[in-house]
Amino acid sequence: MKNDEGQQSSQSIHHIVYCSQAVQHMDQDALEKIIATAKHHNPRFGITGLLVFGSGIFFQWLEGPKDNVTSLFKIISDDHRHTDVVLITKEDEFRERLFPNWDMELVAAEDISAVLEDAMHEASDPKRKSTLSNMLQELKKRSLGN
Ligand SMILES: Cc1cc2nc3c(=O)[nH]c(=O)nc-3n(C[C@H](O)[C@H](O)[C@H](O)COP(=O)(O)O)c2cc1C
Repeated sequence: MKNDEGQQSSQSIHHIVYCSQAVQHMDQDALEKIIATAKHHNPRFGITGLLVFGSGIFFQWLEGPKDNVTSLFKIISDDHRHTDVVLITKEDEFRERLFPNWDMELVAAEDISAVLEDAMHEASDPKRKSTLSNMLQELKKRSLGN
């Protein structure tokens, strides 16, 4: 499955959002290792998204073809580096990707609201806008992005 290489068009896209708890202290090296693995595998499966880490909590957005996202989520859920994986959203939508150029981007918790607000302002697709707005609300509820 090929990444769409930034060519944006509405398509049926599956996304999963979850949060989880790191089992041990995650330093920059440990985080970069996860991101390197993700950047290595995700493009082959047409998966894009972002990973937020702050205060020992992971928050990840995965989007792409349903089967691939579902399989990856299962692999990630079994990863011993985190626990208490809680699924927040699992949905199919007909819209553009939210983060078409991000195989997997690490975003600091304090920057996530700004990243999402920027993406929301740039979005031309109304569904993309409203998905981003819902995501911002989820973050605010969990006080992750403040
Ligand atoms: C919070 C978190 C997020 C992860 N995100 C991804 C991801 O987006 N893509 C990926 O391939 N692996 C991700 N991983 C790693 C997988 O759980 C798994 O270790 C990896 O896919 C195995 O790849 P390998 O067989 O090449 O070592 C993540 C792990 C954690 C703890």
